[in-house]
Amino acid sequence: MSNAHQFKLKLQVNGKQVSQHVAPDTSLIELLRLDLGLTGTNQGCDTAQCGACTVLVDGQAIKSCNVLALQMQGRVVTTIDGLNLAPTGTEHLTTQATQATQTAHDANEAPTLHIMQQAFIDQGALQCGYCTSGMIMRAVAMVHERVAIDEHAVALALGGNLCRCTGYHNIVQAVMQGLTILRASQHLRGIINTDRLDHTNGLEGELDVSGIHSTHDEHDEKHKTIKTNQGSL
Ligand code: FES
Ligand code: FES
Repeated sequence: MSNAHQFKLKLQVNGKQVSQHVAPDTSLIELLRLDLGLTGTNQGCDTAQCGACTVLVDGQAIKSCNVLALQMQGRVVTTIDGLNLAPTGTEHLTTQATQATQTAHDANEAPTLHIMQQAFIDQGALQCGYCTSGMIMRAVAMVHERVAIDEHAVALALGGNLCRCTGYHNIVQAVMQGLTILRASQHLRGIINTDRLDHTNGLEGELDVSGIHSTHDEHDEKHKTIKTNQGSL
């Protein structure tokens, strides 16, 4: 398609300013994988069912197959490829890891893993790995949501992310490990009050994603909010 049928998009991806001409029907996952070469985000069902394509938009978990790239105008997108360098609100709490990451980045070396990535390794929470990047991005978004750190609440909150391999147990354990470390850090800094965590939360967690709309017309009513949980385990 010629530039005459494309529109200029400016956004931030993994800490870098991106300016790109995109077609009106280009989805966010197409922009990420095909235009920007960020292949850490996997494309599964392409119909907002599996969650493999989950990324963070302004810190909130979004299924990138289900939004248009042009809807990302001016927004901050984080993918698994840049997770270890992305602001999580816990930098001050994970000083050692953050410094190591930054040092490695400055030295052009392989960076350290994000706490949630390490938790998935520690708990053996992946097999084929196809769902893993989406699972981890969904889990990172939970840090700022009122999802309690217990098996039931975490399993509910992962309801929109499907895994065909693991049986979910180890994934839930990994998310709990990651949340425990990240939340503890935030609690110490007074960023969150863990006493107010909603232990029934899961399906109630609607995110304010004003301006982000589904590419599917039949989902118009869902445009006002994108629920953190779709489907079931
Ligand atoms: S590829 Fe987006 S939800 Fe399955
Ligand atoms: S590890 Fe294979 S789909 Fe989840």
